[in-house]
Amino acid sequence: MKKFILSIGIAAVASVALADSNVVTVALRPDANAPVIPKEIYGQFAEHLGSCIYGGLWVGPDSKIPNQNGYRTDVLNALKELKVPVLRWPGGCFADEYHWRDGIGDPALRPRMVNNNWGGTVEDNSFGTNEFFNLCELIGAEPYLSGNVGSGTVEELAKWVEYITAESGPMAELRRQNGREKPWHLKYLGVGNESWGCGGNFTPEYYADVYRRYQTYCREFNGNKLYKIASGASDYDYNWTDVMMKKAGRFMNGISLHYYTVTGWSGKKGSALDFTDEDYYWTLGKCLEIAPVIRRHCDIMDKYDARKRVGLLVDEWGTWWDEEPGTIRGHLYQQNTLRDAMVAALSLNVFHTFADRVKMANIAQIANVLQAMVLTKDDKMVLTPTYYVFKMYRPHQDAKFIPVQVSTPIMDVRGDRKVPVVDATASLKDGKYCVSLVNTDLEKGVTVTVSLGGAAGKNLKGEILTGAKANSYNDFSMPEQVNLKPFAGAMVKNGVMTVEMPSKSIVTLTFE
Ligand code: AHR
Repeated sequence: MKKFILSIGIAAVASVALADSNVVTVALRPDANAPVIPKEIYGQFAEHLGSCIYGGLWVGPDSKIPNQNGYRTDVLNALKELKVPVLRWPGGCFADEYHWRDGIGDPALRPRMVNNNWGGTVEDNSFGTNEFFNLCELIGAEPYLSGNVGSGTVEELAKWVEYITAESGPMAELRRQNGREKPWHLKYLGVGNESWGCGGNFTPEYYADVYRRYQTYCREFNGNKLYKIASGASDYDYNWTDVMMKKAGRFMNGISLHYYTVTGWSGKKGSALDFTDEDYYWTLGKCLEIAPVIRRHCDIMDKYDARKRVGLLVDEWGTWWDEEPGTIRGHLYQQNTLRDAMVAALSLNVFHTFADRVKMANIAQIANVLQAMVLTKDDKMVLTPTYYVFKMYRPHQDAKFIPVQVSTPIMDVRGDRKVPVVDATASLKDGKYCVSLVNTDLEKGVTVTVSLGGAAGKNLKGEILTGAKANSYNDFSMPEQVNLKPFAGAMVKNGVMTVEMPSKSIVTLTFE
């Protein structure tokens, strides 16, 4: 792998021809006009897929696994700790085959269906609307409902919104019969999912009209304000965003974008655990490519919406590896290593830089599927390295973004991916600064000099996430291989903080 040095950062300066070096500088550039990092960037996604819902979140009230009204107690506690701001449900591809009326009323009488998207598993609908909204209330998350456009009707979606949010009328009565007196609060409403693919294989021109029609009948009852989200592009499909903004932009509050860190959509995606150093760096490079992708989607949105009224919502992102050998095909169960943690941290850093347009992001998915927060097996649960990144990044939620300028060596991977040795992000909330630093280098530690841009650097506290190897992971027999630890490798002198970062580590520092 070739290494060379240049400067990167928000206010990028010209390349500097320095020799290979492990000295990295970060400068905080507090900017009065910088946006707040919406806490919704730390959003989650739960789909009826594999054991995300059943076994992961929900075991039912009669289960021997400790639970609170059917929700696993261990997972519930872990999610409360994470401060999940928003939870998207019921899919994904599943959403466009989901008929909400099948998931209400007496669970014993709910119809069953085949989950055609995900392994042909039989879905018994025991987790439905009431169970989802009650879960959101328990963990303090805003619900984000993904509506069925592909195989549902306008009437079905309209009535779902009414069932959830109306004070009176037949749908409100039905909700009351099912045990919920007061309406729930519903803000985020997705009108279809991946409408270019599993959500109906629409063209953008056709879907734009369908979107306009469906959203018309999603009414706002009793002052409940809906934030309506159009199904957006996948990765590099800039035409989708263009057509949607042109034809339907004024009818939406947000449009989604899906970007997975994946090696390709056909054939093997690579092992979650068994990878080379070069695979590791390539993965980080692919993950960072989300920045220019978002940039281009934002530029298109700017053409139609210069005031940035419409949000870009990255409502599916994360790593996608081959399914764990021995697990059920189509259930997308994968292990989660320090490499995944790096992807999480680098992605969140990117989202921060687009906080003026990117108003939400939902990692896929919350439990047992793809880049999960928690993995469960019977009555056991482990917290993944990715969980710990979300935990250590909590201070950035709803904090004011501080642009940073980073001067770092850059690695050139296989000629087509560039990975900085150090990446950084910073924010300020209630007088408290939070700086997160990522050292991607698998072998070398690095000294990072952070000029604090006027902050005193008092009451410095740090946390570090690292592991013995890039593929270190937490499993049921060894749950603490990659875990958060207090970090004492930073000191402040004359407005400059010096941080001694070990190789392959993520550090978060808070100070005043
Ligand atoms: O997250 C898994 C799947 O990925 C979702 O169901 C779909 O929207 C996407 O293709």
